[in-house]
Formats: sequence, structure tokens, C-alpha cells
Amino acid sequence: MSAPAQLGTVYLVGAGPGDPELLTLKAHRLLRQCDALVYDSLVPQAVLNLVPQGCELHFVGKRRGHHSVPQPSTNAVLVELASRHRLIVRLKGGDPFLFGRGGEEAAHLAARGVPVQVVPGVTAGIAAPAYAGIPVTHRRAGSSVTFVTGHEEIDKGRPGVNWRGLAQTSDGLVIYMGLHNLRRIAEELMAGGLAADTPAAVIQQGTVRGQRQLISVLGELADRAEEQDFASPSIVVLGEVVAQRVPVCAPEPADVEMPIPF
Ligand SMILES: C[S@@+](CC[C@H](N)C(=O)[O-])C[C@H]1O[C@@H](n2cnc3c(N)ncnc32)[C@H](O)[C@@H]1O
Repeated sequence: MSAPAQLGTVYLVGAGPGDPELLTLKAHRLLRQCDALVYDSLVPQAVLNLVPQGCELHFVGKRRGHHSVPQPSTNAVLVELASRHRLIVRLKGGDPFLFGRGGEEAAHLAARGVPVQVVPGVTAGIAAPAYAGIPVTHRRAGSSVTFVTGHEEIDKGRPGVNWRGLAQTSDGLVIYMGLHNLRRIAEELMAGGLAADTPAAVIQQGTVRGQRQLISVLGELADRAEEQDFASPSIVVLGEVVAQRVPVCAPEPADVEMPIPF
């Protein structure tokens, strides 16, 4: 029996929240060296442009009017690329292991003997608030922060979030993919005891062109966000941390376009 062909390494790389200057040095180096790039939505063209000429590109994200590529197909693409290339970058917005299915892809590759490494990235849940001057923790605002997805109703693969419980147990909440369910989330949190006047913020398209933010209170957040047409991708921040905002420390968003999936 012939020895199995040597497989390339798949790097699960965090692209950061959009501003290309928030890429890690390691992500930058791997992008400059890769033979193949597999990427999805929420990665600006300026970052994709870093790959060498001749690099094989695969888009596996969601585009206007289309569904995302199913996860098993993405997994299969990664395994196939590893049989033909030495260095493959699987680029994901933010951090690959935070609401990014990076763990699933890592496990799939590892189970098939494909060398895989994760390269952490700057997550949108920290960077988007920062670009609005909001620190996600502050000593005057308690001792805990929870990163939570607001998407669980749609993704049946996950157990539901106990919003009423979170209202009691976490000082700050950073909600990913929460905009569509914002009204129900706010109602649940208030039913769990979180005050209607809890400081609240939504940051849309954080760190890139078109960034905008809404500062309000929990009881009014869904109405204000609807009135002002806030859209995905947005991060919702709840808690006293929003009141500790220092607007002058917020950097200018990068002047880059981020392709927005619809
Ligand atoms: C599938 S999750 C991926 C999160 C990513 N792995 C991370 O660590 O940031 C996508 C969600 O992240 C949030 N998000 C990503 N980029 C964002 C940005 N630049 N501004 C605001 N929210 C963003 C939005 O809530 C979006 O719906």
C-alpha cells in the first residue's frame, strides 16, 4: 500500500472585525503566504487583497438572495484543498472560535488527519464597542460580561439562551446577531429583572466605513433601532459599561467597504 500523500495545513484565521489594521501579525503573514484561501462574509476586500497572485480563492459565505454554503460543503472543500496545497487559510470574521463554527471545522479536519491550527482574531464584540468608546468591562460597572448570541431561535442546533437568568447573573451583555430578535430579548431580560433604564447600545458595521451607533436604554432600544433602520452586522451592548463610554477614545473607522450579507 502506498503511503498517504502529505497533507497541507489548514489555518483557521481570525480576520478581526473589519478594520484591516486590527489583523494580527500572524494572520497577515499567513495571508501573504497562503496557496488557497477559503473565506466568508464580513471580510473586507482590503484583507482579501493580501493573498499572493495565483492563490486559489473559495467564497463560502452568504450573499444577497442566497443561503450560506452548507457547513458540510465547507468542510469538504477544506479537506480537498489540504490534499493539493501546502498552506490553506480558512479566514473568518472576528475570532474563529467565537460564534464562528471554527471549533466544528477544527474537529472535522483533525478527525481526518488534516493538520489544523487556529489563529485567534480580534472579536467584533470587543472591537465594535471600543470603536464607539465603550469598554466592555469597567470596575464601576461590575465584574462580569457575557458574550451571547441572539440568533438561537433560528439556529435549532443550539440550546436556547436563558435570558431571564442572564438578567440576574451577568453585569454586562454583548449580544451577537441580536438585532432581529431585539424586542423579544429586551422583554425577556426585563422580565428577568433587568431595569428598563439599563444603558444600552447598538453598533452597526463596527470599525469600518458606515459605522454608526445608537445609545439608548434597554426599554427603548428595539423602538429606536427600528426607527433608525439599524441593520446587520450589529453588536448590542447592555449594562452600566455603556454609561462609562469615553467617546473621544473611539478610533476613526477604517475607510474600507465590508461586504454585507443580506
Ligand atoms: C457569525 S457571527 C461571527 C462573529 C465573529 N466570529 C467575531 O468574533 O466577531 C456574526 C455576527 O458578529 C457581529 N459582527 C461581526 N462583525 C461586526 C462588525 N464589524 N460590526 C458589528 N457587528 C459585527 C454581528 O452581530 C454579526 O451578525
